[in-house]
Amino acid sequence: MKRTPIIYIILVSLFITALGFSFYFYKQSQQFDRQITRGISAKEDLPRYHFVLIGEEMNHDYWRLVGEGAKEIELKYDVFVEYVGPQRSNPEEQLKLLDIAIKSKVDGIIVQALSDEFTPIINKAVKEGIPILTIDTDASESLRNAYIGTDNYLAGQLAGEALVESMNGQATVGIITGSFTNAHHQLRVKGFKDAVEKVEGIEIVAVEESNITKVEAEEKAYEILNEHDNITAFYGTSSYDGVGIVAAAKSLNKLDSLYVIGFDPLTENIQLLEKGDLDAIVEQQPFEMGYKSIELMLDIINEKSVQDTYHTDASIIRVSNLDLWKSQRMNPHD
Ligand code: BGC
Repeated sequence: MKRTPIIYIILVSLFITALGFSFYFYKQSQQFDRQITRGISAKEDLPRYHFVLIGEEMNHDYWRLVGEGAKEIELKYDVFVEYVGPQRSNPEEQLKLLDIAIKSKVDGIIVQALSDEFTPIINKAVKEGIPILTIDTDASESLRNAYIGTDNYLAGQLAGEALVESMNGQATVGIITGSFTNAHHQLRVKGFKDAVEKVEGIEIVAVEESNITKVEAEEKAYEILNEHDNITAFYGTSSYDGVGIVAAAKSLNKLDSLYVIGFDPLTENIQLLEKGDLDAIVEQQPFEMGYKSIELMLDIINEKSVQDTYHTDASIIRVSNLDLWKSQRMNPHD
């Protein structure tokens, strides 16, 4: 007689427990659904194209500007620019990053092509259907779609002409180049030589390599100054060569009688120009290179016709046009 209520109690408890479980699993499945939906829409929110930009030195003002140019245009065109590169110049690492970008099958690669070693890897990418732009330094023999950056030969010529003009066609010159093997430095030296060698009063007595470091630029300039007592001018092809040359000449008390022309208006170089330690600087357009490279890559993807080469401006900053240069920098659209 007494067993009936117990059975009822057990049945009711089982029913309530089953109800609890059903409710719990229903809620769980709802949550999974939400997660899946979120995952799908997150994918839809991804930018349309993924480009990789590979620079020479992340820890350098010049390359910071290239990156800023590329990043500025990202949102306008719904692209994601993955900006990568070694901290300090390291061509092997750049090649590795290029290889990784190809294996990741990104939509486009923008790379500084330092030497011939880049050509087969660039060709491999193009053959696999990944468009390639070279930036700052070209690999013109490769299958790359186009180049954007300074005409490095012309920039060297401009430097040579500036030196000839300031020295009234009379100078004994030492050259510090960032690297003997990097294509852009070779062109900057060649352009310079071609511009000065036709002037009778100019003689180049030494060319040394700084390995793109201030310290080596200073060491090499010091050696040159000691070996050639009659040097009256120096030309440096990479951003910090001017700084190294000035330091060496200062330590030997030879700076006052020396004309020095270098590359890139980094803050340190502008300060030396203001003090009269540097005499002239070749300016390039890194921000514009980065910005335009993305537009160009989109044109290639959209099968618009593009030129082989897009040269950005190179010009000379001297003490005489420094104020104008500064005011234009503050109001770039004047
Ligand atoms: C060159 C770049 C280089 C940078 C820093 C610039 O003058 O155009 O190729 O990476 O200096 O060395």
